[in-house]
Amino acid sequence: MSAPSLRSTAEWRALARHWRSLRGTTLKQLFDGDAKRGTRLVAKGVGLYLDYSKNLVTDDTLRLLRQLAKARGVFARRDAMFRGDKINETEKRAVLHVALRAPRNERILVDGTNVVPEVHEVLDRMAAFSEKVRAGEWRGHSGKRIRNVISIGIGGSDLGPVMAYEALKHYSRRDMTFRFVSNVDPTDFVEATRDLDAAETLFVVCSKTFTTLETLTNAHAARDWCLQKLGGNEAAVAKHFVAVSTNAKEVEKFGIDTANMFGFWDWVGGRYSMDSAIGLSTMLAIGPEAFRDMLAGFHAMDEHFKSAPPESNLPLLMGLIAIWYNDFFGAQTVAVLPYAQYLKRFPAYLQQLTMESNGKHVTLSGEHVDYATGPIYWGEPGTNGQHSFYQLIHQGTRLIPCDFIGFMHSLNPLGGQHDLLMANLFAQTEALAFGKTPEQVRAEGTPEWLVPHRVCEGNRPTNTFLADSLTPHTLGALIALYEHSVFVQGAIWHIDSFDQWGVELGKQLANKLIPQLQDQNDPDLEHDSSTNALIRRYRAARTEAR
Ligand code: F6P
Repeated sequence: MSAPSLRSTAEWRALARHWRSLRGTTLKQLFDGDAKRGTRLVAKGVGLYLDYSKNLVTDDTLRLLRQLAKARGVFARRDAMFRGDKINETEKRAVLHVALRAPRNERILVDGTNVVPEVHEVLDRMAAFSEKVRAGEWRGHSGKRIRNVISIGIGGSDLGPVMAYEALKHYSRRDMTFRFVSNVDPTDFVEATRDLDAAETLFVVCSKTFTTLETLTNAHAARDWCLQKLGGNEAAVAKHFVAVSTNAKEVEKFGIDTANMFGFWDWVGGRYSMDSAIGLSTMLAIGPEAFRDMLAGFHAMDEHFKSAPPESNLPLLMGLIAIWYNDFFGAQTVAVLPYAQYLKRFPAYLQQLTMESNGKHVTLSGEHVDYATGPIYWGEPGTNGQHSFYQLIHQGTRLIPCDFIGFMHSLNPLGGQHDLLMANLFAQTEALAFGKTPEQVRAEGTPEWLVPHRVCEGNRPTNTFLADSLTPHTLGALIALYEHSVFVQGAIWHIDSFDQWGVELGKQLANKLIPQLQDQNDPDLEHDSSTNALIRRYRAARTEAR
């Protein structure tokens, strides 16, 4: 028996009615009607302070959203995930990134086996290896110490490590160079290696499947580069390459000794894998202790998600607010705006986490949804974004809910500069919420013809996150918060947030196309007329250049 369609549930209909009744209400009215709103609609957990008062919600909205979550089985599904049930139904897999940060004494069973000891065994091996490299004990083929680490991977095997390296650069070894190669565009590899000494370079090849075109191509390029620079002795590979994968057979086939392989498991989704061995480059950069601190931050948020009451449960609140704008206000996007330069890759990381997870058009039982799922996540650090796309958020015709993220203390204090940064954050959320009325514009002496142009309607919703400072622990908590918010949204929509079948079609077609681009003779092309013409044009240009 299939569950009633989301839109026909009593909880959804109650929310739709409530939305209609709230439609004309402004944030200004909500604040005028409740002097304590700004201190009442806040939630705290794991060092994060969330002010969600500048959202178009009332206590009734939140109560109705919580009822929806309950009716859609969010809490039961959350417990099933933590228990190790195979909630990734289309791939018949457990979804246990939470086990990657579980303390040693915890027990989490997958098919009757406690996976926590295996997790810690790999973490311990990663720590021992990282210490060796950082201490200069792990030497390259010619005996030189490793000074450069290049992580090769793509998607979930790249975005987490890149983001974490940038986010935690303050804590990283400054006498070592860390780079990341992901794109199959040869430029990525060439630019990453052009000024490096191969004798001092370690490649960490990260791929869950170890079959991904981009990663394997770059890994082969790295192998050739290394061998060419180091005199062609195959023995060099063992000193300059380690692998992170679930696929020992393919790692061996590539030529990396499985003694130099760090494993993980099929119950870790690519976009949820930065706490697994995929984070080896992060650990090499910041050291095992700081890495474990980051895991502790993730774990603390897991515990919060599991046990905090619904009214103050941060991921639940975030997920429900996202549903509210996406499904009732028709907002198509969410902007994530960190006021922290170190978080410059955080929005890009969130794009895979949120959109690969919840960009789904059918329910778990295969029925086409008749409601909007995964919103588009995007963003840039403030204040840079203020001088580019914020105009559209302030005065455009689309509703764009925003998450602002700021810290009390800068890791690089420089005069009063941090105050300037945070003043801008607070000013933006205030301006977005309350805008500027025609009367206020006129009172500034603005000529009448210019008044409409200078009016800001306000009523633009925002969440504001504040934390003490950007530490590994805080970063872990923040990422886990978004992971679980994505989970809440997917659970309400009854979709599989843990598969990614949509990515496959493009991969299959590209594989079919490669020989057609490289064939010496004119291949028979059976694509549509546009694709055929593009291929012919490309082939002609390449042939001319040869
Ligand atoms: O882009 C699709 C995807 O499967 C992601 O989910 C994954 O993170 C990425 O490719 C890389 O896959 P792998 O780690 O197997 O190389």
